Amino acid sequence: MFSAGKDKIKELEKALGLLGGKIAVLERQNNAIQAILASMVEGVIAVDKDTRIISINPSIENTFSVKKVQAEGKLFLEAIRNNELAEVINGVLENKAAISEELSLSWPVQRVFQVNATPIFEDARVSGCLLVIHDITEIRKLERVRSDFVANVSHELKTPLTSIKGFVETLLEGALEDKEESRNFLNIIQDHTDRLNNLINDLLELSHIESKEMALKFERVDLKNVFDVVILGFRSQIKKKGIKVDNVLAENDAIKADKSKLEQVIINLIDNAIKFNKEKGKIRIYSEDLGRKIKVVVEDSGQGIPEKDIPRIFERFYRVDKARSRELGGTGLGLSIVKHIIELHEGTIGVESTEGLGSKLSFILPKD
Ligand SMILES: Nc1ncnc2c1ncn2[C@@H]1O[C@H](COP(=O)(O)OP(=O)(O)OP(=O)(O)O)[C@@H](O)[C@H]1O
Ligand SMILES: [Mg+2]
Repeated sequence: MFSAGKDKIKELEKALGLLGGKIAVLERQNNAIQAILASMVEGVIAVDKDTRIISINPSIENTFSVKKVQAEGKLFLEAIRNNELAEVINGVLENKAAISEELSLSWPVQRVFQVNATPIFEDARVSGCLLVIHDITEIRKLERVRSDFVANVSHELKTPLTSIKGFVETLLEGALEDKEESRNFLNIIQDHTDRLNNLINDLLELSHIESKEMALKFERVDLKNVFDVVILGFRSQIKKKGIKVDNVLAENDAIKADKSKLEQVIINLIDNAIKFNKEKGKIRIYSEDLGRKIKVVVEDSGQGIPEKDIPRIFERFYRVDKARSRELGGTGLGLSIVKHIIELHEGTIGVESTEGLGSKLSFILPKD
């Protein structure tokens, strides 16, 4: 009798041991699941068949500004006031089938989510719903930038091409006989071909810089000298507009940069300072010592840039006055090239402007 009791206790001990082992395994599995949920960028919500929240992960806490401890046990709409998501959950619970759709949520912030919701089954019955939401706002934004870019490029290419085609047709239809008129038309055609050529060069340059594969050849660059050379290249435009250029950079103002890329930056800044200046205006080029860095400023006395446009002028194809800028031969790529080149040099670009008075475009780069 006594020994039989002892056997039972031993069996019981063994069973308890096994149970303990199983609990430990379950605990480990649970910890692993929690760790996975915590590290997921996707938001995960599990609700029961009455839409009461069983669990949410940290990504959901962040997106919807709710606390796990407060949300769990509450009805979905009480914890997360989002009707679109609630409708998805109800749809899954009612139809016992998964739903996958893209939702634009305007609360708590404007974002686009890919939502995948699946029923949770227990003994062949739906006991709840698992919702996984993936933030695809950035992907959608990039897609828009891309399609805007294609639309812009196509438009910019098409405008001069249509014009060239028109003038060639007019010449072929008889205008060729009139020498004076032919010359006039051919000049216009030449202008448009130049435009196309510049546009394509700018686009190639931009895609080259953006690919970040461009190797920079760093060397000592004497700023005053580079500005002087660039200004010389613009002498006819400067003379035509009667602009006074003052290059007051110091002889020993020097930086470490890729000289030909920096030249491109300066060409674009000077080109703008002339184009958007008034007749008999001024351009002043000076520097500010920032210790290990130097700030170079190109100041003009032109029309200035309206405050609302200032944050956008470095965007590709952005022009404050599209019609006027195009008339001046611009496509709005210059400053985006400038910004990319300066950033490739780990520098920063700046702009200050007062409408009607003028603008100061500047860059900061490490000194040599
Ligand atoms: N110095 C300036 N004064 C006034 N507006 C400026 C100045 N620099 C740039 N802008 C504004 O910013 C826009 C973008 O400049 P950006 O150099 O990229 O284009 P763009 O000069 O029109 O064309 P591109 O440089 O391709 O020939 C210009 O169209 C103009 O509206
Ligand atoms: Mg420009």
